Order: sequence, then C-alpha cells, then structure tokens
Amino acid sequence: MSDPGDSIPSAQLPISASAPGKCIVFGEHAVVHGGPELLFAIDLRSQVILQAADGSSLNGDRTASRTHPYFGRALAEIPPPGGGVSVTSVSRVPRSSGLGSSAAFVAALAAGLSAIRGGADRPTLAQRAFSIEQGAQGVGSPGDTSAAVAGGFLALNTARGTPLWEVSDGSRSWSVRRVVDPHWTWIVADSGIPRRTADAVKAVAERMQRPDGPALLDRFRSVAERGIDSVGREDRGETGRCLRENQELLRDAGVSHDRLEALLDAARPSSDGEKLTGAGRGGSIVALPKPGRELETARKIARAGGVPFVVRPADDGARLL
Ligand code: PMV
Repeated sequence: MSDPGDSIPSAQLPISASAPGKCIVFGEHAVVHGGPELLFAIDLRSQVILQAADGSSLNGDRTASRTHPYFGRALAEIPPPGGGVSVTSVSRVPRSSGLGSSAAFVAALAAGLSAIRGGADRPTLAQRAFSIEQGAQGVGSPGDTSAAVAGGFLALNTARGTPLWEVSDGSRSWSVRRVVDPHWTWIVADSGIPRRTADAVKAVAERMQRPDGPALLDRFRSVAERGIDSVGREDRGETGRCLRENQELLRDAGVSHDRLEALLDAARPSSDGEKLTGAGRGGSIVALPKPGRELETARKIARAGGVPFVVRPADDGARLL
C-alpha cells in the first residue's frame, strides 16, 4: 500500500513511472459537491517513460504541450529541469470509460516529473495530480487522482478510516482517508460508449440547482455513508442494496444510459449489487458478483455487449519502475 510517508524518490532520466486506474463504488458526482465517496485502485495501470530531450513531446508529438491539455498542464505544474522531456505513454486502462485513465496517466506523469525535480511526498503528489487533472478538465474532485497516487481502498469526505491527506482546488477542500479493503472480487465492465467526464459533471451540477437538488444530494450522501459503513463491516447484503440505491439516484441525476442499464440487467441475477461507475452517460458499470459466480456474471455481461474485467483492488499507487 502506498501511504503518505512512502515518497517518490529523486531520480535521473531516463525513468519510468506507473499508476493504477480506479473504480468508484459509491458517491461519484456527489463527491464534486462535497459528498462522501468510496473507491479503489484497480489492477489495470498506465505507464510513462521519460527521456531527456531538447523540447517536450508525448508519443513523438512535439505539439502535445499545447494540444494535449493533461500533458500541457503537467509540464506547467512540474516543469522538467533542462530543455524538456520526451514522454512515451502506454495504458491498460480503457479510455473514456469511467475507469480513471486520465487520472492514471496524470499520476504516473506527475510521479515521473516529480522524481526528476528531487522527489515528492505522496500528499504533495496527490495535490499536484489533482491540480493537473482539474486544470485540464475544468471540473471534478480529487477522488480519481488520489486513488491513482495512493492505491488500495479510499474514502473521501467521511470520518471513517485513517487520514491520508487533504486536497484543495483553492476554494474547496476534500479529505482523503485510507479504509479497509474487504477483499471481495468485483467486476467492472466497459459499455464501449465514450463520453466526456466534464460534460456529465456539468449536467449533474445543473440538476443539483433544481429545487429538489439539495434533497437529492442528501440522498447521495446518506447512501454513500451507509455503503462505506457496510463495506467496513464486510456486510455484502447491505453493500449490494446500497449499490442499487446509488444507481437509482444516478438515474435520477440523468447520467445512466440504455447500454449501461442493459449491462446492469445482465449482471443482476448473479450479483449482490451493481451500478454504473464514474461519470456515467456511457462508460462502465461495477458489480459485486455473488461468491463463486464471478465468471458467470462476466460471461452474461459480455453476452449483453460489455467488456468485463474481473478486478481486485490494487495495493500499489503511483510508483517509479
Ligand atoms: O468517469 P470518470 O472516471 O472521469 O469519474 C468521474 C467521477 C466524478 O465524480 C463524476 C467526477 C470527479 O472528478 O469526481
């Protein structure tokens, strides 16, 4: 597990760094408005290789510092010493799928750039990764980038667990805590419908402005708190009920999608609970399959058109290789 004391060391080019994607169990969208969230790092990772160069480039593209918002922001936030840095990136996290591909890329790149600038402790890296991602996206919470930096199971904006760090966007701050992993096997499945996180976050923010918005946010908060508590008690039945209730709220917030509902229908008979994960409007679902029925659940999801991954929380956060 990557904890606050475990720093990214100072290193010289060439270096390689990697970071995991993530799966949100409870509280996406509401976390942007200060609600609690539970998420874990998944064992699909992004990797970057950094080499000395006169000017900066990403995968050979020398215009990327202007045209690729995440890359440009990373170079502005953590400028490489010397002329520049040539970055090659490879990823096993499906893109635009709600599984944290941009957070994994940003956390790996921030770890690599921090290493060549003398190293960084994890709270600093978590803050840097969030500033880069939020700067590029314009909206969002530090959940995804914190999971990519810390690894393991995390909760935001709750009193449960052990404090890791606070992350701020200048006007608001989020507390990030380490919580216990119940060691369950989860399935995430990509619908293949791409979407932009920022568009979904803005649509939900508008939904929260309607007269019943505050009441909806309260329901998001309460189901996430119950869910976080039930995972802590290793109560699968209650966790499953909370997953389904959270999905109803996401549907009400307008971010489900027919293709996601079809995958949820396919997972339901052999799962304790299931919901969309991430920003929604496409992207992925997460299911908690009944013990021993993981492959059956994955097969049914695949038959319904999804791309399932049987995942376990990954202990390792961002690290140099
Ligand atoms: O779909 P993703 O992986 O970008 O997840 C976004 C989660 C949100 O709560 C919708 C936004 C955020 O930054 O927390």
